[in-house]
Amino acid sequence: MDKIFLSPPHMSGREQQYIAEVFESNYIAPLGTFVDRFEESIKTYTGALNALALSSATAGLHLALRVLGVGEGDYVLASSFTFIGSVNAILYQNAKPIFVDSDESWNISPVLLKEAIAKAPKKPKALIVTHLYGQVCKLDEIMAICKEEGIYLIEDAAESLGASYDGKQSGTFGDMAVYSFNGNKILTTSGGGMLVSDNQAWIEKAKFLSTQAKEDFLYYEHKEFGYNYRMSNVLAAIGVAQMEVLSQRVERRREIFALYEKELSQTNEIMFMPEIGKSRGNRWLTTALLTHTDPNTLIEALEKENIESRPLWKPMHMQPLFKDARVTEDGTCQKLFEQGICLPSGSSMHDEDVYRICDVVKRVL
Ligand SMILES: Cc1ncc(COP(=O)(O)O)c(C=O)c1O
Repeated sequence: MDKIFLSPPHMSGREQQYIAEVFESNYIAPLGTFVDRFEESIKTYTGALNALALSSATAGLHLALRVLGVGEGDYVLASSFTFIGSVNAILYQNAKPIFVDSDESWNISPVLLKEAIAKAPKKPKALIVTHLYGQVCKLDEIMAICKEEGIYLIEDAAESLGASYDGKQSGTFGDMAVYSFNGNKILTTSGGGMLVSDNQAWIEKAKFLSTQAKEDFLYYEHKEFGYNYRMSNVLAAIGVAQMEVLSQRVERRREIFALYEKELSQTNEIMFMPEIGKSRGNRWLTTALLTHTDPNTLIEALEKENIESRPLWKPMHMQPLFKDARVTEDGTCQKLFEQGICLPSGSSMHDEDVYRICDVVKRVL
């Protein structure tokens, strides 16, 4: 039987045409018209005022921290329930993470966020909040806390491109935000990211740092160190083609989620990640909590049927790398990790694929 992958790339069909245009122009470089077009398309779709195409979302988070002045010894709050790419940049800057647990939304808990701030040895400079699996967090409360406390808000929208909150796109609420185009995301450029912000000066500074911090001279003059983080024009061509079908991809992922929910509605042993209040997620991955079954049993059973599935992210505060980090937790994301599963959710999946997966799920549960 054909393999069903968790979240494989789904091309629009225009990618190779645009790549051919790049080759014809010979701009096989981290600059060129497709980089500009990709940035414009992200701005148009999301409403962000400024965008910077980069080699990854991780690079974008690094630049965001650097631009916002987060450095050695500073504290940075972050969702504990996330992928390591959300928080590695805190270490790049020699800053210290403070991890915050989730609530019933599976995303960061505003209550525990307040508690973490109150307990911090000094005022944290920023919060990196993840919109987990494409579901937007409780932004009204999170934004109010950051404003009240004078803490920068950085949205890790790596997984939530196309998701919205109160009708506004995720990634346009914080001081800065990133989207990821890694191979498993809702759109992919095979690898890449976008940093966005309404603050033009910050994006200009990030652009300067992303291209080796070259001063404005004909010869090469440097006053500070930078990075080689810009996106290639070739990959941006893929991104432009992918952006043309973003709305369709969001709708298909939401349909797949709805199909799972319908097919598995008979069992009360599975609880899907909720969509809270004003959030309209992109359902990047359909994720669920198994109340009576070890997720590894289901993962193995699916694997035998040539179906890829995964556990949920292992919380950052449970990682050996962060054994000494500060954390405010109440066991919520640990429980989600121990009992949760990610089901195949690619937008190229057919309804029949979902039925095939649900048959295994029903049998195992
Ligand atoms: C929540 C989250 N943050 C950050 C990243 C890092 O993105 P990238 O691979 O583009 O660096 C990813 C995915 O890879 C992610 O899922």
